[in-house]
Amino acid sequence: MAIIGVKNLSKHFKVLNRHEGLLGAARDLFSTDYRLVKAVDDISFQIEPGEIVGYIGPNGAGKSTTIKMMTGILKPTEGKIEVNGNVPFKNRQKNAQNMGVIFGQRTQLWWDLPVIESFKLLKEIYRVDQETYDHQMGMFNELADLKALYPQTVRSLSLGQRMLCDITASFLHNPKIVFLDEPTIGLDISIKARIRELIKELNRTHNTTIILTTHDIGDVEALCSRIIIIDQGHILYDGDIKRVNQLFGAYRTLRVQVRPYKGEQTIDQVRQTLVERYGEDRDFTVRSREMGWINITFRQDEMPLLEVLNYAMSRLPIRDVQIVELALEGVIRRIYEGALQ
Ligand SMILES: Nc1ncnc2c1ncn2[C@@H]1O[C@H](COP(=O)(O)OP(=O)(O)O)[C@@H](O)[C@H]1O
Ligand SMILES: [Mg+2]
Repeated sequence: MAIIGVKNLSKHFKVLNRHEGLLGAARDLFSTDYRLVKAVDDISFQIEPGEIVGYIGPNGAGKSTTIKMMTGILKPTEGKIEVNGNVPFKNRQKNAQNMGVIFGQRTQLWWDLPVIESFKLLKEIYRVDQETYDHQMGMFNELADLKALYPQTVRSLSLGQRMLCDITASFLHNPKIVFLDEPTIGLDISIKARIRELIKELNRTHNTTIILTTHDIGDVEALCSRIIIIDQGHILYDGDIKRVNQLFGAYRTLRVQVRPYKGEQTIDQVRQTLVERYGEDRDFTVRSREMGWINITFRQDEMPLLEVLNYAMSRLPIRDVQIVELALEGVIRRIYEGALQ
């Protein structure tokens, strides 16, 4: 039995066509000049308990609008939606007990309170009993090492620290479903990696169903076996991530900064290190396009990104790394061009 069912769901917004200047503003007061934005337009899907589904698409695709309808914040214009056997916008109170939700741009914690006080407030709001609370807090601390942050105010946390707290907080009442809307937006890679680990562990230990929206392909590669791609309110693809992996580009690039940097000699050292691990015939290149930074480009089906990263880190004096991110726009363009047919 599906835990989320969405059928022919749409959300249309009427938006005023604004006019410029003071006179325009006055005209707008009485204007009937509206245009219709079809934020979500006739989408259907089902999600099974325990799945981690990546809901991906470029900015403005309709991801947040879909999440808002599934959480009951917005009422659909048309179509059916059922979450946990309930209609979200009709049973908001009841649904809240079974859901956690994070919007990456905002926090559900209280800015001026110490982190621990936010957790205590959420415990009261969701009527979490002491035993569950102690158990969850113990687990969060083990997974994310949060204790040091508890006495700090939310305001004083870095974006990444705040997100770790926000995510754990959304799991406090042990909900069946957690919606994460852009949980890694604006974060650097090391904290992104921690957040992905945390999400994976929480899903594994509690079998929590997770819907993750993102425009970072790295998030979905790390976490999801199923993805739904949305663009301009329409679903372009729903299925196994493996089938679209080829569209994500066969090649990945890892940038490393090796110290001391001695130009050609250092580049050779990196190349040699990879040859030792992967042999001479593998299809990879090592180049420097920018002083001090070395680009390693390889086929990800032959040389998994994380493996290359870990190996390089263990063998070379690496000071800093960057993973060159793939652009979702390219993937979507190729789907439109018929790459999945
Ligand atoms: N409250 C609203 N009023 C009018 N238009 C909206 C509203 N919310 C979203 N939209 C529009 O709907 C489209 C989808 O937005 P959204 O769901 O936030 O996209 P995403 O989360 O994928 O970036 C965008 O064109 C956005 O401008
Ligand atoms: Mg959004």
